[in-house]
Amino acid sequence: MKAGAMLSRRAFLGSTAMLGAGALIAPSRTTEARVPASFAPTQTITLKAGDLDMHLLGPGGPVSRTYAYDGEPFKLLRAPRGARLEATFDNGLQEGSTLHFHGIRMPNEFDGVPTLTQPLVQAGGRFVYRLPLDDPGTFFFHPHCDETGQAGRGLAGVLIVEDPRDPKFDAEHILCLKDWRLAADGSFLAMSEPDGASKAGTFGATRTVNGAPTLEFTAPAGGDVRLRILNLDSTRIMDIGVEGAHASLIAVDGHALAPVLLDKLPDGIWRMGPAQRIDLSLRMPTDGTPVTVGDYRAADIYQFATLTAKGSVSGKRSMKPLALPKADLPRPDMKRAERYSFTLQQATNAAVKEIGLPADDPFAKALIDSLCVGSTTYWGINQESWPTGDRRRLPPPLATMTTGRSYRVEIKNETRFPHPVHLHGHAFEVISSSLDRLPRHFADTVLVQPGEAVEVAFVAARGDWVFHCHILEHMETGMMGYFRVV
Ligand code: C2O
Ligand code: CU
Repeated sequence: MKAGAMLSRRAFLGSTAMLGAGALIAPSRTTEARVPASFAPTQTITLKAGDLDMHLLGPGGPVSRTYAYDGEPFKLLRAPRGARLEATFDNGLQEGSTLHFHGIRMPNEFDGVPTLTQPLVQAGGRFVYRLPLDDPGTFFFHPHCDETGQAGRGLAGVLIVEDPRDPKFDAEHILCLKDWRLAADGSFLAMSEPDGASKAGTFGATRTVNGAPTLEFTAPAGGDVRLRILNLDSTRIMDIGVEGAHASLIAVDGHALAPVLLDKLPDGIWRMGPAQRIDLSLRMPTDGTPVTVGDYRAADIYQFATLTAKGSVSGKRSMKPLALPKADLPRPDMKRAERYSFTLQQATNAAVKEIGLPADDPFAKALIDSLCVGSTTYWGINQESWPTGDRRRLPPPLATMTTGRSYRVEIKNETRFPHPVHLHGHAFEVISSSLDRLPRHFADTVLVQPGEAVEVAFVAARGDWVFHCHILEHMETGMMGYFRVV
């Protein structure tokens, strides 16, 4: 059914009827992104999106046709801090896409949001992104159109920005967590069901880490291991915990914080929703005891990695965990910051309506395609949904802000489900939680629990930046808006 829908979408995009629809929602910006005069790339790459066959149901199992960049699952890019990355996106998919470098502070024109910051890159098309990589840490990139479909099929990559000042770890592992929605024959099930989209999301039952069911490593006894853990799932919120070693949280969404022992946090876990990342520092035991890393959220614990200590401990180390150099981000001026409050809501019945055209009307389809949203609205922010029902243009911004000014934004969750809320192009400081759950830290996404109010603060950067839930179905059914910073 999905294939059929895509076929008709493609057929339609190629037809002239698109011109009519395009005129209504035509982006005001030019196809070729403007090149900042001062941008001299230090690294030039091409990222080609396309199909990749994977054995996700086991080595002898059936093949699943996933999507990947450059034919590699969770394609890894590494760059030194301060690098200037020129990445040409080459769209080898059979549908439109874009690249969004999640968590990177960058010029707005390279943010990858179709209609808002750039036109959709059609099948076979290209787009050049020019990114300053000034913040060290664990980041990722993904498409920003038909995300449930494309990211649901695995289209995501990892971007590690290395800081020469980082302490030396004895080992480092990158762990990409993602569930897949697969039938027994390896084919994909529908990525979204109304019952999921309107509630906690539509879950995958095949859980993986780096595309495998679980991972096993050995690590030097008594050594320090850095784990970069990325929640690349579209839906699942995970409670990350470690057994068998002292584990400290040393970065959230790439940004260093003063190390906190996981055991000192409520329930001894760090809860992270889709798109959120953490770096952990583990002190390996001496005796070959296995150290396990898992998701403890469900009764059915998913232990996704096991590390076994090997060798004898060399020298004596301080008990202190290795800390990363302090995050070097613009600090909001809390005294003079202007305040906003946004409430995450279930859309009211009046707003839960289809686009005011029959679903198979080509005009309605073009509209949905070009805004990269679903046709149904379940969610809203401050009574606004993206885009509401039959609105045919971009909705107005949720807020208009001033470049360089500080803002304190309260995010209140009035729904019965948790929402990981992400702001593009900024790292915000998480100031407080009404449930008193979170240490102060920098992040690009914050999980807001039902009934909770979280306050974040940031210095606004110029551009139109989307603000959305990163449970992809929630975003595609209304829980998205944007801040216009002028
Ligand atoms: Cu991972 Cu709109 O973002
Ligand atoms: Cu949500």
